[in-house]
Amino acid sequence: MTQGERRGPGRRTMIGAAVLGSAALTATAAAGTAQARTGGHGSGSRLPVPAVIAHRGASGHRPEHTLGSYQLALDMGADVIEQDLVPTRDGHLVCRHENDITGTTDIADRSEFASRRTTKTVDGVKLTGWFTEDLTLAELKTLRAKERIPAVRQENTLYDGRWTVPTFAEVLRWADREGRRRGRPVWLHAETKHPTYFRKLGLGLEEPLAALLRRHGRHRATAPMFLQSFEPTSIQRLARLVSTPGVVLLSDAKSRPWDFTESGDPRTVADLITPAGLKEIARYAQGIGPTLDLVIPRTADGRLGRPTTLVRDAHARGLVLHPYTLRNENSFLPADFRRGTDPNAYGDAFGAYRAYFATGIDGIFTDQPDTGLLAAADHRDARD
Ligand code: G3P
Ligand code: CA
Repeated sequence: MTQGERRGPGRRTMIGAAVLGSAALTATAAAGTAQARTGGHGSGSRLPVPAVIAHRGASGHRPEHTLGSYQLALDMGADVIEQDLVPTRDGHLVCRHENDITGTTDIADRSEFASRRTTKTVDGVKLTGWFTEDLTLAELKTLRAKERIPAVRQENTLYDGRWTVPTFAEVLRWADREGRRRGRPVWLHAETKHPTYFRKLGLGLEEPLAALLRRHGRHRATAPMFLQSFEPTSIQRLARLVSTPGVVLLSDAKSRPWDFTESGDPRTVADLITPAGLKEIARYAQGIGPTLDLVIPRTADGRLGRPTTLVRDAHARGLVLHPYTLRNENSFLPADFRRGTDPNAYGDAFGAYRAYFATGIDGIFTDQPDTGLLAAADHRDARD
């Protein structure tokens, strides 16, 4: 039994109280108090339910994972700001969705890095491009961030080149500063990307992450902070290092976490979302981050089907749910909420939020936190 597992039941009790808090909230809210619970979302600071988690910042409005994207999300009122973390060659954690930075920086246009272009296999996928683990932080800091999907979000290209790639240390300092200025903590939701891959390169993510969290007082169970990973062993490792609430991310049901593939564990996400699978997750984590399709599957024609029992089953194990990712553009919405024929135009995102919030989820990742916040307020008003 690991240290994290030994600590599990106590933490489970806390999160169990949190989920009970959700029910209690409904009653309290019915009595006219619209504010939400604390508990599993971290006692001592108030986090609404459903919480709006700014996915890579306000990435629907600014190039993702930049201080500009994080700042806009916070200014919009997002409840939590997300970071994805990968390392540099010299072991600094930086905020990128993947270690291949070909599409989100200007590195392809920088002749001094031309020789660094290479092909490698990351989690079983062959990729050609430029990778964070091949650059020192000093080198990476000479790059400028740019919009990932310019064909979809042309307006965001206005900001190409405006910001550098932030380190997680910079983000923590920014959050501390903004927290002092606002008189309330800034909530973060940090994900370890490809942790098994990086550990094999001698670039383990969890130890430097834990050290940074300690330095900024975000290592406690009550910290305004979540830690997330698609690899359960990364959350287990983090649980041995810090008490910060952990969230196990879950991709589609047939997928297999990469750490399971590496260790020969045959289980898939379908196994993890059974009551037995959730019970095991609850030994070391405080929540799950399922893809939205695990909460409400889509039918063959892309419309929303009937909700699964995942919300009920996870709550029964004291786990909060932070599904991902709701985006306003037609191309990302379920078919029933698309409007018109332009895939890049906004559809009826509010209709989609209503459907997902009705399932009882505790939070949601979104690229457009401004829309999510209005939808969450609508949901609370309707509930109250
Ligand atoms: O971390 C929640 C969500 O961000 C997972 O998807 O691929 O955008 O990191 P991804
Ligand atoms: Ca993420």
